[in-house]
Amino acid sequence: MKRLVTAFLFVVASSVGVLAQSLPVPSYWLNQRGSEMKLYSINPQGMFNGVYINHASGFGCQGTPFAVNGQAMGNRVTFTVIWNNGIQNCNSKTVWRGTVVGRRINTQWILYTPQGQQTGTDIFLQQP
Ligand code: BTN
Repeated sequence: MKRLVTAFLFVVASSVGVLAQSLPVPSYWLNQRGSEMKLYSINPQGMFNGVYINHASGFGCQGTPFAVNGQAMGNRVTFTVIWNNGIQNCNSKTVWRGTVVGRRINTQWILYTPQGQQTGTDIFLQQP
């Protein structure tokens, strides 16, 4: 009986965890640079994954899918792409931090390269 109650509480807590975060998964997003982000799965702790296809002009590693991994907590979201997918390797990594507002994610990012860091903003809009 004790085990049953524990299992029940775990399921309830996990469900609450998923409901408490506002990032819809699965979902498909485009940013203002034309880059695509497809989110496939999320766990009860808010850890999610998917693929990112960079189409931003002025950057490398364009046109092939890279793994994206992140965490959502409430309306806050952080996600990372390591720009090496075995086909292209830019020896770099981007971390986006932002806020989910309805079908929009407002982010600030840092691109880490061997030459140094670059910063910017991206706005992702959820596609139908
Ligand atoms: C690199 O050039 O080293 C790797 C590609 C970086 C692409 C950046 S990440 C932030 C910005 N938003 C995008 O969608 N693409 C660029």
